[in-house]
Amino acid sequence: MLTLLLSVSTLLLLETSDPAWAQAPPSLAPSGPWDTFNYAPKSRTVYATSIRHTQSTVSGSENLLNGDNGSATLTGNDAWVTLDFGKEVGGLISMNFDSINSSSSSISLAFTESPMFISPTLSDDSSFPIATMNYDGVLSVPAPLSAGFWTQPAFALRGGFRFLTIASTGDSSPVTISNVSCAISFMPHVDDMTAYTGFFYAKDSDFEDSDFLTKLWYAGAYTVQTNTVPVNTGRQVPFEPQGHWANNATLGVAGPIIVDGAKRDRAVWPGDMGIAVPTQFVSTFDLIPTRNALSTMFANINPQTGALPESGPPLSQLGSDTYHCWTLIGSYNYYLYSGDDEWLNTIWPNYTLAVSFIEGKVDNSGLLNVTGLRDWARQGGGGHNSEGNAILYKVLTTASALATYSNHTSLSLAYAANASSLKTTFNSAFWMPDVGMYRDNTSTTLAPQDANSFAVLFNVTLNDTQKETISEGLERNWVEFGAVPPELPDTISPFISGFELQAHFVAGNDSRAFDLLHREWGYILYTNLSVQSTLVEGLTANGSLYYRYYQGYNDDAAYTSHSHGWSSGPTSALTFYVAGLTVTAPQGREWSLAPHVGGPMNSTQAGFGTALGWFGVGWERGVGENALSLNVTTPEGTSGVFTVPKGVSGTVKVNRTAVAEDAREGQVVELQGGILQITIS
Ligand SMILES: *[C@@H]1O[C@H](CO)[C@@H](O)[C@H](O)[C@H]1NC(C)=O
Ligand SMILES: *[C@@H]1O[C@H](CO)[C@@H](O)[C@H](O)[C@H]1NC(C)=O
Ligand SMILES: *[C@@H]1O[C@H](CO)[C@@H](O)[C@H](O)[C@H]1NC(C)=O
Ligand SMILES: *[C@@H]1O[C@H](CO)[C@@H](O)[C@H](O)[C@H]1NC(C)=O
Ligand SMILES: *[C@@H]1O[C@H](CO)[C@@H](O)[C@H](O)[C@H]1NC(C)=O
Ligand SMILES: *[C@@H]1O[C@H](CO)[C@@H](O)[C@H](O)[C@H]1NC(C)=O
Ligand SMILES: *[C@@H]1O[C@H](CO)[C@@H](O)[C@H](O)[C@H]1NC(C)=O
Ligand SMILES: *[C@@H]1O[C@H](CO)[C@@H](O)[C@H](O)[C@H]1NC(C)=O
Ligand SMILES: *[C@@H]1O[C@H](CO)[C@@H](O)[C@H](O)[C@H]1NC(C)=O
Ligand SMILES: *[C@@H]1O[C@H](CO)[C@@H](O)[C@H](O)[C@H]1NC(C)=O
Ligand SMILES: *[C@@H]1O[C@H](CO)[C@@H](O)[C@H](O)[C@H]1NC(C)=O
Ligand SMILES: *[C@@H]1O[C@H](CO)[C@@H](O)[C@H](O)[C@H]1NC(C)=O
Repeated sequence: MLTLLLSVSTLLLLETSDPAWAQAPPSLAPSGPWDTFNYAPKSRTVYATSIRHTQSTVSGSENLLNGDNGSATLTGNDAWVTLDFGKEVGGLISMNFDSINSSSSSISLAFTESPMFISPTLSDDSSFPIATMNYDGVLSVPAPLSAGFWTQPAFALRGGFRFLTIASTGDSSPVTISNVSCAISFMPHVDDMTAYTGFFYAKDSDFEDSDFLTKLWYAGAYTVQTNTVPVNTGRQVPFEPQGHWANNATLGVAGPIIVDGAKRDRAVWPGDMGIAVPTQFVSTFDLIPTRNALSTMFANINPQTGALPESGPPLSQLGSDTYHCWTLIGSYNYYLYSGDDEWLNTIWPNYTLAVSFIEGKVDNSGLLNVTGLRDWARQGGGGHNSEGNAILYKVLTTASALATYSNHTSLSLAYAANASSLKTTFNSAFWMPDVGMYRDNTSTTLAPQDANSFAVLFNVTLNDTQKETISEGLERNWVEFGAVPPELPDTISPFISGFELQAHFVAGNDSRAFDLLHREWGYILYTNLSVQSTLVEGLTANGSLYYRYYQGYNDDAAYTSHSHGWSSGPTSALTFYVAGLTVTAPQGREWSLAPHVGGPMNSTQAGFGTALGWFGVGWERGVGENALSLNVTTPEGTSGVFTVPKGVSGTVKVNRTAVAEDAREGQVVELQGGILQITIS
């Protein structure tokens, strides 16, 4: 019955709403040793894999593991058992009540992502943060229990958890249960969630676990899958009263839809998508949830002003100039990956209105005056602020590109001219030659992590020396577990660090990029505070879960999300920079091959698909010399540019034919799509 329903809805979706590119989705990535690291469950029904804890009289708890048919009995109102699903999951719990010896028997369910908040009486928080960390409470299944199959009500969905604690809460008589399972709620449109269209594989010789980079790539991919949800499973706003939660709000114009986090906020946040969508592109190519999220933002534009909301419904937060910009940048990313002309034309009137809205805030100084102050949690940010202006620069360069693709040539030139003058003004207003970094605004010397990372990544810099000194300057903010943004003290933000990571690669400092990867994500993925499978939203500078304790999260470490797509920056960075393959025109009609080979590996393999076909690369360094060999596969009819990496030099041969003698770092070679063997030696 379930299968029938699913296939009918899939058909409807195909007939009514799938864009042209989705009619011919890319084929699956080749299988290989990397498949072992794919965290996604094979089945949509999952079972606990180990018992984390039992308290008082619990017998047969191990019968609840791995889909065993046996039962467990909890006796007495102080008995509880904590099941461990082995990794982040999310969905509705079902179980059988096999025997109920008293009409006063009842149970409760408590959920948590981090093992720090395992408790028979409390779940981790998702509705609202309070210092006592006891907001959400438990899901009570009240007396009288009825024997037979039970399923958690849909409104009480927990979108993200690893640990489930079942407690007997009635009288002293036994309750016998069996068949405790979780029906995964995320990726509702996909049967086999392991069916990725991309992969990554490399051995790291500079980290205790040599599979770290591969695991991290897959952790990022799985994180974004857990953030891809049915449209009717948003967190309720206004928030439920203390002791309750509800995830049955409508999230946008269509589903499935991509949200910020599995447990919370379960709402569309366009800034988060600036990291999460590239992750999705290189791993699952699951772009329909992205299109639905962007369409939701444009549908909620203020028709008078052109302002876009900061977040999707039901939060529908307003008043963020930077997140306004992220919807516009996200539109470019979606179009670059999909080539969806029809969608671009549909949103075009609202898109251009929204560009005009933000350009209208550029005053006679030539800079954007940021007045929509909400942002990713950073402090400051208003007025002539460098972060907002760096993001606006990216809006204008991508708007110029989109205007070209949509055949609005003169508009494209106008956007490009505005970008160019903004870049000049930006550098004279914010550059601190003595520090070698950009300042936050014209009345401070604070050099923020976000603006400096964006300036390098979006090429707001005027020369490569600036990129190098910024990369050096960013490292001065590091502590044991990562980068501490001066604009949000005592915090580690894997969101902004995802941009910093890319900035170090762009600046040509591969070893600094790998140092940041090891330090920050090496901690995040392995610390026993985390779910050790998906990626946490943020930390304090000393590695605790009290992220934003003084900035909105009210000292509530249990509120922090452990599966936030915005922390998955390494996934696309490993593909785009380390493997080095990226697309530069819609669907990869044009591409760039520019590997960064200065990391702790001798070889790397990776690839991804688009509607045009497979984009794959494998490279291997010659031992103790400047040699490099690469196998590259790109679709016939495409064209690309190969850039000789730093630390590599010699004669470039393509399929044994010399195409460049005595080539050095930065030299470019033009290539046509197809299967190519490239060597430099
Ligand atoms: C559980 O029971 C069903 C039906 O009796 C049987 O097909 C299945 O193999 C059993 N599974 C296990 C793990 O024992
Ligand atoms: C509970 O009830 C079941 C039958 O429903 C019975 O087999 C079992 O002995 C009872 N256990 C206790 C402790 O009363
Ligand atoms: C969500 O569930 C709650 C609790 O059952 C209910 O009160 C509310 O009306 C539901 N909201 C929606 C939008 O379905
Ligand atoms: C066990 O739970 C699954 C759902 O996860 C359900 O389909 C199945 O019918 C249950 N088995 C029994 C014996 O109740
Ligand atoms: C890379 O090659 C060097 C030299 O042969 C070797 O010592 C090292 O272990 C290799 N690293 C990996 C990760 O294979
Ligand atoms: C464009 O904005 C209007 C509001 O002005 C809205 O009604 C419409 O749905 C939007 N169109 C798209 C394609 O988002
Ligand atoms: C930005 O605009 C606000 C509101 O108009 C104004 O109060 C503020 O002075 C402006 N900031 C700058 C730096 O001009
Ligand atoms: C722009 O024009 C070309 C050539 O007519 C066409 O193929 C393309 O679809 C147009 N772009 C959009 C976004 O419609
Ligand atoms: C970055 O900007 C400089 C000029 O400021 C330009 O020469 C260079 O081509 C740009 N790089 C990219 C990748 O666009
Ligand atoms: C790079 O640009 C900055 C900002 O304009 C300038 O101060 C610096 O001298 C330039 N450096 C080089 C090497 O051109
Ligand atoms: C390239 O492919 C050839 C032939 O399959 C293989 O022998 C070689 O190891 C590959 N090289 C790299 C760098 O993947
Ligand atoms: C390059 O060589 C591979 C086999 O090694 C072959 O499949 C491919 O067609 C060749 N490409 C070109 C452009 O000659």
